[in-house]
Amino acid sequence: MPEPAQQRTSSPEATAPGPRIVASVLPADLSRLGEEVAALEAAGVDWIQWDVMDACFVPNLTFGPDVIAAARRHTSLPFEAQLMVANPDVLIGPCVEAGCERVIVHAESTHNLHRSLMHVAESGGRAGVAMNPATPVEAVVNVLDLVDLVLVMTVNPGFGGQAYLATMEPKLRLARSALEATGRRIWLEVDGGIAPDTIVSCAGAGADVFVTGSTLFHDPRGPRHAVQELRDLATQGIGDPAFRMR
Ligand code: DX5
Repeated sequence: MPEPAQQRTSSPEATAPGPRIVASVLPADLSRLGEEVAALEAAGVDWIQWDVMDACFVPNLTFGPDVIAAARRHTSLPFEAQLMVANPDVLIGPCVEAGCERVIVHAESTHNLHRSLMHVAESGGRAGVAMNPATPVEAVVNVLDLVDLVLVMTVNPGFGGQAYLATMEPKLRLARSALEATGRRIWLEVDGGIAPDTIVSCAGAGADVFVTGSTLFHDPRGPRHAVQELRDLATQGIGDPAFRMR
């Protein structure tokens, strides 16, 4: 069985310091998905997050492994799948086969989180764990050895275009401390309402990966401008990335 956590050090994302800007494709024109993901690569995003929703765990229905596989041949960007579904175990293997390097399981979605995260590694992927706004950091501290990313939702999952929850920043600080206590470099990702007027404070609270949908797709100056503006502001918020790498 592969050593899931150690894979992180060899991943292409791992080395360069600084924040990561990740595209949520929820606002994309799905009738032109291949062109849309190629445009995101040209805009300079670091990787793509697929919001897999089943209209059960969240009140929305989106796409699954077949759509991800269809987009796979249109870009070389890394993919991750965020499983907002009531039965994540059945989709873990298919998402890895569809081309996702990482699969993110919600702590609230499974009776055996540890087993589900091990299942991601057994399927050949890297595991991430996500928390809805009401879920405390304590819910994931016992599985940090199995993941290379922790996702703190900054909206209640299900839709794009929602308002950022600044009330999640104390939780981000707690999560950042728990991650640093492991001695390993684990990404701290935020998702929901990330925009020029929200990214600096959540970067300052400890996040270093920023998922964005509306800001990227609706910037009147185009996605490349949006990525650069968010990356510059996040860098301001984080301060000296070398501080974070110790
Ligand atoms: C919501 C999704 C997010 C969403 C982000 O449940 O997980 O990825 O698409 O969209 P914005 O950036 O518009 O809040």
